[in-house]
Amino acid sequence: MEYSEKVMEHFRNPRNVGEIENADGVGRVGNPVCGDIMELYIKVKGGIITDAKFKTFGCGAAIATSSMVTELVRNKTIEEALQISNRAVAEALGGLPPIKMHCSVLAEEALKKALDDYHERKRLSSAARQRKLQAG
Ligand code: FES
Repeated sequence: MEYSEKVMEHFRNPRNVGEIENADGVGRVGNPVCGDIMELYIKVKGGIITDAKFKTFGCGAAIATSSMVTELVRNKTIEEALQISNRAVAEALGGLPPIKMHCSVLAEEALKKALDDYHERKRLSSAARQRKLQAG
C-alpha cells in the first residue's frame, strides 16, 4: 500500500495534538470495525474557528487525517468548516489508498460532531440567558 509523502509527513509530525481546555466544541467518534477513536476540540471566536486540536487512537491514516483537519479548519467560519468533507481532507493529503478512505470519514465525522456540540452549547447558553432575563 502506497501512502503519499504528505500522509507520511503528517503521520510522523502530527500538527495540533492535544486537548483544548474550555473548548467551545468537542467531537468524539469511533469506528466500530477497526476500533479507532478520534477526539476533536475547537475554539470559536466571533464565528471563526481560532484553534483546533485532536487526540486520535488509531491507524496512521487516521492520525494524518486528524492532523490535516485541524489545519484546514483554522481561521475558517463555522459555515466554511461545515463544508469540509472527508474527500477534501484526503485530497489535501495528496490522496489516500482506497482501502484507507474510511479513515478520513472519521475526521469528517469528528469535525461535524464538534460543530454540532458548539451549536448545542450556544443554544443552551442563550436559553439560560433568556431565562435569567425573564426571571429579572
Ligand atoms: Fe481505523 Fe484507519 S483503520 S481509522
